[in-house]
Amino acid sequence: MNEAGPLPPPCGTPEDIHPAAVKGFSQEELYDRKCPEYTNSTVDFINGLLLSVKGEENRENPDGYDVVEVGSGTGKFTLSFLRRIQKPIRYLATEPLGNMLGVIRESRPDVFTLQCAAHALPLPDASAKMVIAAQCFHWFADLSSITEIHRVLVPGGKLVLIWNQRDLSVPWIGQVEDILEDIYIKCNATRQQNPAWKRIFDTYTGFEELNYVSLPRPPIKGRVEDILAYFSTISVLSLSEENMAAVSEFIKTHPDLQGQAEITVPFTTDIYWCSKKI
Ligand SMILES: C[S@@+](CC[C@H](N)C(=O)[O-])C[C@H]1O[C@@H](n2cnc3c(N)ncnc32)[C@H](O)[C@@H]1O
Repeated sequence: MNEAGPLPPPCGTPEDIHPAAVKGFSQEELYDRKCPEYTNSTVDFINGLLLSVKGEENRENPDGYDVVEVGSGTGKFTLSFLRRIQKPIRYLATEPLGNMLGVIRESRPDVFTLQCAAHALPLPDASAKMVIAAQCFHWFADLSSITEIHRVLVPGGKLVLIWNQRDLSVPWIGQVEDILEDIYIKCNATRQQNPAWKRIFDTYTGFEELNYVSLPRPPIKGRVEDILAYFSTISVLSLSEENMAAVSEFIKTHPDLQGQAEITVPFTTDIYWCSKKI
């Protein structure tokens, strides 16, 4: 792990970030408490991908990293990874929103962090073996970000995209997703469940093909208030009381959930990865 030095100025401003993300991720402590964790098997899988990247020569690059995380938020994936991988690793967590980044900067000042957006990484060319985007690539699945990520990866380096995903085959969850889809469209925002983010890989040719695996993840369980608190961490629900009210009303009145002391939200973890062409 790196010793964090003096903080450089932010690179990229909130104006570069989707307004729904700026407002929707303004409750950083709630997000950090209620958003699902990442499992050890997810971390182990990603560490296996990291170990498969050749590039010891990159170690001679003093500005180089094993992992550069983009959109690291409050550090949920960052800390899952660093807690599990008990060996020195050069890990850089980057995040454009100062309030989100502030959580990890306060709790773990030893983790090296930079405030920047995915399309403006203040790093040299070919300086990272892996770039990770956990629960966020849909916010910046555009040409400027993919070009920047490609630039900072070493040849053969890996881009890894991760999402903890609600199990849409459960009827009431599938119906909540329909409500959410309408809200995302109204907010002009996108999300993982909408395959629009994949289109960038059809047009950008700097990577080998996109691979995919779905790993099991324990469900979230709790009283209705706990489940609503979890839903309120979803950006477009956090940014408007009206949006949250629509989901809250649905969950409180859905026949499948009536009389249940504990509600279960089943999850999987979806992982996509691709290699920078050599
Ligand atoms: C759902 S949170 C995920 C945070 C963290 N990775 C996690 O797993 O909990 C999405 C994050 O993407 C970030 N984000 C939005 N637009 C971005 C951009 N253009 N570049 C980098 N990060 C961005 C947001 O600021 C937010 O912290």
